[in-house]
Amino acid sequence: MQQRTFTCSFEHYSSREEMTPKMQELAEASIQAMQDAYAPYSKFNVGAALLLENGVVIKGNNQENAAYPSGLCAERVAFFAASANYPGVRIVAAAVTALSAQYVQGEPVTPCGSCRQSMLEYELKQASDIPLLMISPSGETLLSPSIKQLLPLYFESRGKF
Ligand code: THU
Repeated sequence: MQQRTFTCSFEHYSSREEMTPKMQELAEASIQAMQDAYAPYSKFNVGAALLLENGVVIKGNNQENAAYPSGLCAERVAFFAASANYPGVRIVAAAVTALSAQYVQGEPVTPCGSCRQSMLEYELKQASDIPLLMISPSGETLLSPSIKQLLPLYFESRGKF
């Protein structure tokens, strides 16, 4: 038996001013997306923004439904839209942020397990890491260098894409 350890390392920014202008732009796009979320049931607005290698920014936000499981998270709305509208165009960075009308979201939002698995598929497909900014309304931000880092021992289909 061997003990194995998974290390997850990420950058922590106390305010948006500490980030590069490009990162700030993507953060701003995710905040705009969050404002247009359709979340009448949870009142938990989530926004995501992706920067593509062609310079296009894709926005996504959570879309809820009276039949609860029919809704979708912001991250998947954004990644699926990118893949549908710009197939084969590399995603160079992603950002996600959230704001709740019901309680104070002090910490940066971190994606749910299903979104991690979905985002990971696109990272593996394009064979290059997708850095992910996780932003709180106060400006505190975490930066993961890749999606892989957020999902140790992830599921990977052994088939070809
Ligand atoms: N949600 C996201 O958009 N992204 C996540 O990573 C987790 C949760 C949404 C789903 C639902 O509309 C609301 O947040 C409350 O769970």
